[in-house]
Amino acid sequence: MKVKRILSGLLAVAMVFSLTACSGIMEPKKNDGKKTVGIAMPTKTLERWNRDGAYLKKKFEDAGYNVELTYSDNKIDQQVKDIESLIADDVNLLLVATIDGESMTQVLRDAKDMGIPVIAYDRLIRESDAIDYYVSFDNYKVGQMQGQFVIDKFGLDLKDKSKSYNIEFTAGDPADNNATYFFNGAYDTLKPYLDAGILKVPSKQTKFDQVATKAWDTATAMTRFQNILGSNYSKGKQLDAVVCSNDATALGVLQAIDSDYAGDNKVLLTGHEANLAKIVDGKQTMTIYKTSANEAEVAIDVGKAILNGEKPDADLIKKANWDFSCKYDTKTYDNGKKVVPSYLLTPVVVTKDNLQKELIDTGYYKLDKKGYPKNAN
Ligand code: BGC
Repeated sequence: MKVKRILSGLLAVAMVFSLTACSGIMEPKKNDGKKTVGIAMPTKTLERWNRDGAYLKKKFEDAGYNVELTYSDNKIDQQVKDIESLIADDVNLLLVATIDGESMTQVLRDAKDMGIPVIAYDRLIRESDAIDYYVSFDNYKVGQMQGQFVIDKFGLDLKDKSKSYNIEFTAGDPADNNATYFFNGAYDTLKPYLDAGILKVPSKQTKFDQVATKAWDTATAMTRFQNILGSNYSKGKQLDAVVCSNDATALGVLQAIDSDYAGDNKVLLTGHEANLAKIVDGKQTMTIYKTSANEAEVAIDVGKAILNGEKPDADLIKKANWDFSCKYDTKTYDNGKKVVPSYLLTPVVVTKDNLQKELIDTGYYKLDKKGYPKNAN
């Protein structure tokens, strides 16, 4: 192990130049005696990952650690390389929001061999026994809340079959472990109403693989939905709701509805994240809001405990005294190699009606002159 560390130290020195030269995103490890946290984020193209990365970096630095932060442009190979570099740089802790839940096995085996603890951030990393903890929102619950929203909004009642609604689904990236949890949470919640014929899916696309959106890409979601509208709704059939797993996909569906839907009813559109302007405009009906600052807060406290040589468990929640809810779960997230102990936060439903209370009054956002929320930090 020691020899490996020395070798990797040498490798790190050699790599410093190539790294800073090629990606420009990592600074060389400082030789100041402080411990270093390596953070691997997926992409800068979605606002949330920029927020998460910046917040994690700042808070770890405030707590006295050095931080090396990488973004991998949603490219799996790039993220593997970035993590290899962090390992070679001898970081003391790795925090990874993975692009592909199944492609990290080898690189994280190296981390484990080097004694570097790993926290899977937001997305579970599969097929690896190197993952020490998982910090995320309750992903299944995100989907359940979307499904329940549809039920409540339409006032669905299993005993009343006099009215039916047409609904479609759009899910996320098959490579992202979260995506099936979001979809299953929503689908399972709505299934009794689908089985009863109260909800109908004219496209018949109800399996995750049929409704998934590679890389959560907005344009891909749009094209698929234009096809759905063209094939199923062109003859005046009314579309009542689309359950979209996140806001990037909801945006694509919205674009398709704007351009290709002939009906004039307001389509109920779910999402999750931060299409807040679309919520204010009434174009997207709801979003499941995940306060990533809170998610980062939990990851930081778990990370600090690990770096202090502790073995965090449910007690961490008691000690931390956070002003948001978080549960410790040792049963749900089996990654194929182990059940990963998880800290799961609870998201909130945000609509036009409670946006002020949930996001502005809480200080997460400010309203700009036009009345749209903008980041308060
Ligand atoms: C995250 C979502 C995000 C999506 C696309 C998911 O794993 O949980 O918050 O919208 O990835 O980046």
